[in-house]
Amino acid sequence: MSEKTVTLTDNSTGGQVEFPVREGTHGPDVIDIKALYQQTGRFTYDPGFTSTASCRSDITFIDGDKGTLLYRGYPIDQLAEQSSFLEVSYLLLNGELPRQGELEAFAESITRHTMVNESLKNFFNGFHYNAHPMAMLTGVVGSLSAFYHDTIDINDPDNRTLCAHRIIAKMPTIAAAAFKHMMGEPFVYPQNHLSYTGNLLNMLFARPTEDFEINPVAEKALDQLLILHADHEQNASTSTVRLAGSTGTNPFAAISSGCAALWGPAHGGANEAVLNMLEEIGDVKNVPKFIEKAKDKDDPFRLMGFGHRVYKNHDPRATVIRKACHDVLAELGMGGDPQLELAMKLEEIALADDYFVERKLYPNVDFYSGIIYRALGIPTEFFTVLFALGRTPGWIAQWMEMVADPEQRIGRPRQLYTGAAKRDYVPLHRRT
Ligand code: SDX
Repeated sequence: MSEKTVTLTDNSTGGQVEFPVREGTHGPDVIDIKALYQQTGRFTYDPGFTSTASCRSDITFIDGDKGTLLYRGYPIDQLAEQSSFLEVSYLLLNGELPRQGELEAFAESITRHTMVNESLKNFFNGFHYNAHPMAMLTGVVGSLSAFYHDTIDINDPDNRTLCAHRIIAKMPTIAAAAFKHMMGEPFVYPQNHLSYTGNLLNMLFARPTEDFEINPVAEKALDQLLILHADHEQNASTSTVRLAGSTGTNPFAAISSGCAALWGPAHGGANEAVLNMLEEIGDVKNVPKFIEKAKDKDDPFRLMGFGHRVYKNHDPRATVIRKACHDVLAELGMGGDPQLELAMKLEEIALADDYFVERKLYPNVDFYSGIIYRALGIPTEFFTVLFALGRTPGWIAQWMEMVADPEQRIGRPRQLYTGAAKRDYVPLHRRT
């Protein structure tokens, strides 16, 4: 069958150029325009990359119109219900669900890498107690480069796998250390007999003064939340990790750049912004006023936790979390949580409003996640740290895929220059 192509016609010259079309497993075809500049002397212009595929990937697929999300082909709702974060991490890294022995070996390797160099703890002492935990996470994750930069050959697949295991294993330890620094409490070391998420809860909430009992409901809910955040195609932070990684930099530095990008309130920082917004709204009677603010073009306020660049239907992760909210809060004896009630009322009113319906603005992953985090005793400013922790296997899997992809090269977008035309320098004494 002949190759599918599209033809670009230059109406000013009548010249025509043909470009190959490439098909994927699911989703839109792509027009391969690698030769566009060479053949036409022109660039494409696509701020925000709304119509641009930056890479080919086997890892995750989103159908924004149908509201589906697949990790290596498996639907997110099935993984959230039946899998574990550690198994999903293996799946994202390796492309297949692990067999029993493979999962055990992977869990053992992660367990063996949960500790961080003892001197890394000194970094936290440099932060003021009220430093935002994402500032601490971004800085300390990047500092892992100082411990591994010279021992990692990123061109060696086994070294790349070691990097992946190290960052997945150490993220909870670093995140918990940031939390303990915020609380003014002593750090808690990882415990090898605990599950990945049980270890995280223990490092967050255990204290030297008493035994800490891990609540299985909290452990399951947190593990499910981590699964839901694990990867999401070429979102802003993942694209940042890929672009940074394309220079050949240390993967820990690349992941640190992903943390920095995720922190933004338009991205992973939205979960914190949603809880702050719910607290500002305070009562259902104030909802209409905030809906109007969100619709007002002259008001920068947006309904946090609503809308998405890709989903123009329900975010399947929000659907899973919304259900989990009720179950977890009830099981934790917090049924009837006023903020959950307010969030659901806000969703109901927004989705009955033409502005949101016309623009296909639905609740996204961040709209409900904060309500569960808060129920688990997590402070609002720490929510994005947990988003970063969940997204780590996705980031490092995408980094590994990028490094191994023969088509990938250093990222270097072009531009449309609209500045001053070429002009000569004017010495100071002649400037009027
Ligand atoms: C995440 O990319 C990913 O995959 C991200 C993520 C992941 O897992 O990695 O899913 C995680 O980042 C989820 C999104 C979390 N952010 C928020 O909840 C912040 C609130 N949402 C908006 O900032 C916004 O919806 C974005 C940033 C999420 C999407 O922005 P887009 O694609 O640029 O959408 P847009 O601005 O083009 O919106 C189209 C219209 C505009 O109005 P008009 O110009 O057409 O009149 O919808 C309006 C926007 O003003 N709009 C909103 C709105 N979101 C979009 N109006 C009010 N409230 C909102 N939340």
